[in-house]
Amino acid sequence: MAELGARLAAEADGKPKGDNRRKFVQATSVAAAAAAALGATVDHLLRPSSSMPEATIVPHDGQWQAVVSSAELVENAVRPFDFGTVTGFVRRAGGEVHAVSGICTHLGCRLALDTATLRLNCPCHRTAFAVDGAVVFHQLPLAPPPLPRLEVRENAGNVEVLVPRRPV
Ligand code: FES
Repeated sequence: MAELGARLAAEADGKPKGDNRRKFVQATSVAAAAAAALGATVDHLLRPSSSMPEATIVPHDGQWQAVVSSAELVENAVRPFDFGTVTGFVRRAGGEVHAVSGICTHLGCRLALDTATLRLNCPCHRTAFAVDGAVVFHQLPLAPPPLPRLEVRENAGNVEVLVPRRPV
């Protein structure tokens, strides 16, 4: 320890000597490479994976349920729905209707629509999804998967989603 202190003091004076200077440069290079590798790993872990495929939930015994009238779901509008077995959000983008699950893919908390930012916020661990299901940000060690999509259609003037039939 005393040797390390003396070496650091000498280097702080700007007088690292021969072999010590070479070792110092090697050590700092290794440390910088390790920090860069760690930074790259952390950056990778915190960044949502855009290559992760989005699943579509298709129930075995489904039935179409109306969420909102087609006229009410104007371009860029988002509407929540909850049919007990399935909760989610429908939206219109580019004239097409889309639907995603309203359950966080991390541990299953219910997502809340922030109408100002059009984000689906998870109240449990500060994760947010875009209305298309992509992860916007998170503070988890690994990015959660994007939200699954739901089958959705326009029929007889309504936007409908395919949900599991309730048991009778
Ligand atoms: S349950 Fe949503 S981030 Fe953990």
